[in-house]
Amino acid sequence: MDDTKYLITSALPYINGQPHLGHMVGCLLPSDVYARFMRQMGKDVLYICGTDEHGTASEVGALNEGLSVEDYCKKYHDVHAEIYKAFDLSFDYFGRTSSEQNKEITYHIFEQLDKNGYIEERTIKQVYSIDDQMFLADRYITGTCPYCGYDKARGDQCENCTKVLDPTDLIDAKSTISGSGNLEVRETKHLFIKLPALEEQLKKWLETKEYSWPDVAYSIAKKWLKEGLQERCITRDLKWGFPVPKPGFEDKVFYVWFDAPIGYIGITKQWSDEKPESRHWKDWWLNAPHVKHVEFMGKDNVPFHTITFPAQLLGTQEAWTQVDFLKGMSYLTFNGGKFSKSEHRGVFAADAVAEFPVDYWRYWLMANAPESSDASFTFEAFANTINKDLNDVLGNFINRVMKMTTNNFGPVVPQGGDTTDEEKALFTRMDELVNNYTTFLTELEFRKAFATLREMWVEGNNYIARNEPWKVVKTDQDRAACILRTALNLIRIYAILSAPIMPQTAAKMLNLINVSSEPLGWINEPMAEALICLKPGHPLCQPELLFSKIPPEKVEELAVKYKEKEA
Ligand code: 2FM
Ligand code: ZN
Repeated sequence: MDDTKYLITSALPYINGQPHLGHMVGCLLPSDVYARFMRQMGKDVLYICGTDEHGTASEVGALNEGLSVEDYCKKYHDVHAEIYKAFDLSFDYFGRTSSEQNKEITYHIFEQLDKNGYIEERTIKQVYSIDDQMFLADRYITGTCPYCGYDKARGDQCENCTKVLDPTDLIDAKSTISGSGNLEVRETKHLFIKLPALEEQLKKWLETKEYSWPDVAYSIAKKWLKEGLQERCITRDLKWGFPVPKPGFEDKVFYVWFDAPIGYIGITKQWSDEKPESRHWKDWWLNAPHVKHVEFMGKDNVPFHTITFPAQLLGTQEAWTQVDFLKGMSYLTFNGGKFSKSEHRGVFAADAVAEFPVDYWRYWLMANAPESSDASFTFEAFANTINKDLNDVLGNFINRVMKMTTNNFGPVVPQGGDTTDEEKALFTRMDELVNNYTTFLTELEFRKAFATLREMWVEGNNYIARNEPWKVVKTDQDRAACILRTALNLIRIYAILSAPIMPQTAAKMLNLINVSSEPLGWINEPMAEALICLKPGHPLCQPELLFSKIPPEKVEELAVKYKEKEA
């Protein structure tokens, strides 16, 4: 028996960012599609996500809205949860990195690291804003670049000439929080994790991943190791965060990237504590050799998940579950540029579901997922895909088959006729496609998977076009019955296989052919069996259109509304 358990995590979105289509396809949707697929495959799945709440950005966000950071985070946690619900993300639990549970586990991991000699104290120099009464993270300082004269250079880098900067290099440095230039460099004591001391262990562990991780992830991790690891500062002079439980550091908090990935564990414990149907969090995280951890994230997150977080766990010398497979996604751009909330440019997740059914978005985003390279969203491309794939190919097939059947045989699966070489050829082709599709999903090759799903829909249309049941029915009722029965069975297969990407549409498709969607399994049997599952006499529901086309005027209107184009 396969007792493997699948722990699936999506990178935890920052609380202060409004999720846009890029975030949706960067980690949230692919992880959901995979979790749904694995559940349909009958696997034991735990799917975890939550908001990443610490850091300066939350303090600044709260300040701007006149809220306490606690209230600000509570408010936006609920906003995120609501949006993800609208996108049909099927988390087992959507938690928070600021939870008590995460604090407890963060403290435990820190204490183990400290006890094992992987933490050291250092005094560093940092910019302090007298008017803001806080130390400023590099990116909260702007000024004039000493190299090119660009006047909006950030303390960590000049966007104009790309030179890496130190905040003290800037001419006329100012706080971006208050705009104040009343800054000074102060000495402050911080804690560092000694990554170089963990390098050997990390290298050995990483080598076991050479053949199981995608090349991109493995090569990013290797590159970091090759360049040599540095000690990294894990504390900050902020108020919002977990206070550091070490004498002399009580007024500091942990750096957001220290406790955020521990959040996967902390959120699992939240689930464990709060949901009666749950299992103990340790079954997934400690001494759990049967757990496979599959992580989804944008490519910028890869170093944190392949180097720093694994090192934090290795340094405890306890048997924590480490990442087994990780999918790092590239970026989705908006018409080739950046999404910008402040300039109202781009489609944010909340706008998206107000404009079109969520399955349109799920389908477009996953079928065009930025996997090996970046992808660009445009309304024209979106409308093309929805009009062709969903309306002309899938929707048209279902509608024609349902209508021809009910018009000629009434609302039932028709009786009569035997399978011919035509059906046998269809079975063979579909066997091959289903097999490929399952393999692509297992390997997280989303574009290939959904191109294959589309090919299955095309096969259905070709089968109908070749066999012309609308003509045959006039001369040979039995043959027409066999063709339409096979086609109705194809609808069942399409529904089951489309469910991970378009759960609502799949449920509607099953409803049309009167098949329950609970429980929803996978297609494991050969087509010679699967395509005769619906038997003659099985009742059907009234045909109903599943999709509608997006007209060119609408494309124009939206391109202007979301600033893809000027009016
Ligand atoms: O890039 C981001 O949105 C981060 N908040 C991801 C954190 S993932 C995990 F480590 F929490
Ligand atoms: Zn510059």
